[in-house]
Amino acid sequence: MAEWTKSDWRDKPRIQMPDYTDQDALHAVEARLSQFPLLVFAGEARKLKAQLGAASRGDAFLLQGGDCAEAFDQFSADAIRDTFRVMLQMAMVLTYGAKVPVVKVGRMAGQFAKPRSAPTETVNGVELPSYRGDIINELPFSEAARSPDPAKMLQAYTQSAATLNLLRAFSKGGYADMNKVHSWTLGFTEGEKAARYREMAGRIGDALDFMRAAGLDSASTEAMQTVDFYTSHESLLLEYEEALTRIDSTSGNWLAGSGHMIWIGDRTRQPDGAHVNFASGVLNPIGLKCGPSMTADDLKTLMTKLNPKNEAGRLTLIARFGAGNVQEHLTRLIRVVQAEGANVLWVCDPMHGNTIKSESGYKTRPFDAVLREVREFFAVHKAEGTIPGGVHFEMTGQDVTECIGGVQAVTDENLSDRYHTACDPRLNASQSLELAFLVAEELSTFRQDLRAKAG
Ligand code: PEP
Ligand code: CO
Repeated sequence: MAEWTKSDWRDKPRIQMPDYTDQDALHAVEARLSQFPLLVFAGEARKLKAQLGAASRGDAFLLQGGDCAEAFDQFSADAIRDTFRVMLQMAMVLTYGAKVPVVKVGRMAGQFAKPRSAPTETVNGVELPSYRGDIINELPFSEAARSPDPAKMLQAYTQSAATLNLLRAFSKGGYADMNKVHSWTLGFTEGEKAARYREMAGRIGDALDFMRAAGLDSASTEAMQTVDFYTSHESLLLEYEEALTRIDSTSGNWLAGSGHMIWIGDRTRQPDGAHVNFASGVLNPIGLKCGPSMTADDLKTLMTKLNPKNEAGRLTLIARFGAGNVQEHLTRLIRVVQAEGANVLWVCDPMHGNTIKSESGYKTRPFDAVLREVREFFAVHKAEGTIPGGVHFEMTGQDVTECIGGVQAVTDENLSDRYHTACDPRLNASQSLELAFLVAEELSTFRQDLRAKAG
């Protein structure tokens, strides 16, 4: 078989991608992007792969989260900081609660392209292309706004580069110092969960005080002052991805340089399609969304194509079945993986199977269903004797009202108050933390049971 190249996807069936009308403009953008520096480095992707491998064995846990879609008009340093901070706080709750290292991966610095359930949208008898994310077209309902414009790829690159620059500064420049993270306060002030949080923050503070007194000052401990923070996005717009794919000079392998980890969406995972072909050839860790329609045969083929060497950390299966469906579908797919002896990391996305239209007309997600799916994910892994290795969710550090429920009890009537997402409804900061507590509890119980079994 001929060796894979980064353009091979062009001969495969493609879906969920725009038809650019101006080919010259498209080629000019691709040529420009091909000259631009990569956003991430091969060594970083390899390090993440090793950490995901540890998560697949139960020696770490993946926390992957961020916007459903990044947007040009919501780009700000404060928004990036707030999302980063919530991720750190969630990681802290998990590390402390479940005593496990947390691998932190943002849906950030590249999460711009969106698959849609329909290629067009009709309003008052007018039919226009659907909005596909800011890297492709614009949200307002007009012909000009909805026409795909290749130049948007350059703006997405620039925003990704600036976002990553800030994330790198936050990760290594002092912001992520544990002493600062534990002292956060974020409107999480009422009820029983808040009391639990305060108690945990107090205990973390005590531990840090103890370490300082014992001479293990965080000032002298790099591991406490800095974090590894990785980026990820759905690898959907393949012209953009290809232009940022280069040979890594150390290994001679191809690196998708647009982000550390890329994933294949539930709508574009056809084994012979363009998106699977592209992901199969790059060295990055790959995510694969698995919804209820994933068949055993497709999963087997996909595992062979995407992870032919059965490398640990290479393939993350992101289960998104919806509360109530996990038992059936996760169980059957886990059994396929086990029968194949495949190395995979199992992660729970409790968002995409739980999207509903609220009575007020907004797309929302009941927070209860999100939590229920997480519980079901852990229960199935316990029953099958496999490892629940992480969570994948859509959240923001902003105080939005997009998902109903949670300690602050967002109601259907509240949805319109601060509904800012251009795509899927996100958890707000308070709901994200509540989710982190639940995951920490489930994970901690799971690990205790494992240790008890091991005797
Ligand atoms: C997403 O992660 O935003 C998404 C579209 O997910 P899925 O492919 O699982 O529907
Ligand atoms: Co989404």
